[in-house]
Amino acid sequence: MSIRYDGKVAIVTGAGQGLGRSHAIELAKRGAKVVVNDLGGNLDGSGGGSEAALAVVAEIEAAGGEAMANGANVADYGQVEAMVKQTVDKWGRVDILVNNAGILRDKSFAKGSLEDFRLVLDVHLMGTVNCSKACWDVMRDQAYGRIVVTTSSSGLYGNFGQTNYGSAKMGVIGLMNTLVQEGAKYDIRVNALAPTAGTRMTEGLIPEEAFALLTPETVTPAVLYLVSEDAPNKTIMCAGAGAYAVARIVETDGAWLPPGEQTPEGIAAHWDAIASVEGERQPEAGFEQTVKFTGKAMEGLGLVDK
Ligand code: NAI
Repeated sequence: MSIRYDGKVAIVTGAGQGLGRSHAIELAKRGAKVVVNDLGGNLDGSGGGSEAALAVVAEIEAAGGEAMANGANVADYGQVEAMVKQTVDKWGRVDILVNNAGILRDKSFAKGSLEDFRLVLDVHLMGTVNCSKACWDVMRDQAYGRIVVTTSSSGLYGNFGQTNYGSAKMGVIGLMNTLVQEGAKYDIRVNALAPTAGTRMTEGLIPEEAFALLTPETVTPAVLYLVSEDAPNKTIMCAGAGAYAVARIVETDGAWLPPGEQTPEGIAAHWDAIASVEGERQPEAGFEQTVKFTGKAMEGLGLVDK
């Protein structure tokens, strides 16, 4: 059965080119009304213009779809609020939000400025916060919402020269983890995409042959799945070149140490048990850690039966 979005309204940020453009076009092709948001401008966040977003809207309309362009800077909450209002005024709802807009200010931590660090956090992390916040009440009121945050292998695993970008990209995972809990009773599902694609962001960094395989169109199906009616929730989906995977944050089972060994030396002595992958799992919520640890302590202290 084909997955469609008829009657659904989607906002895709940074949709003037690259991944966002591909997400917007495919959503529209499958029936969604799409807000093509893009500030325009350069990879480092400087400049701006509406041509890119308008061109994508024209492309969607030429194919028989419905779309409107929006030039809001996702880092500016006032502009984002106005974008959401404009969407609701025109189409009555917002079902899907794909937080995709992004910039780069790569520099080693030693050489980078705090100004660049803040700007990257502002666009990626606060941009995602702003758009999610502006859509949140709309989604709660209609008891339906699908949000995707765009993370990156740089955030999940690290990448030289990308402390600012990696921090922002891991930040959106933290946002997702709690939004999932707060949105559950309103059928708002929040997932993350970790893409790898040949766009202006990666041009020159990836060998030509790989670049040709890593088309945005191979990533987009992951986003479409993550914003579908039957979407999963709290999933970090990785996608590129037609390959798909899931990343998880896991915690080892760990070990309880008796009071005399609750020392740095005790930890060093029991490191293998503490860090052992055996029994490691993905906690559903933060409080599980507290429950697990106190349970282990009570067992260790003989306060409960093993
Ligand atoms: P891109 O540079 O081709 O597209 C990003 C778009 O976002 C641009 O059109 C830009 O004008 C827009 N934008 C930038 N700042 C904005 C703002 N403040 N408000 C509204 N729009 C703004 O980049 P690409 O590769 O398509 O990246 C899309 C997303 O995927 C980004 O979040 C990026 O960090 C992420 N990503 C991309 C990877 C890749 O391999 N291309 C790898 C991992 C993550």
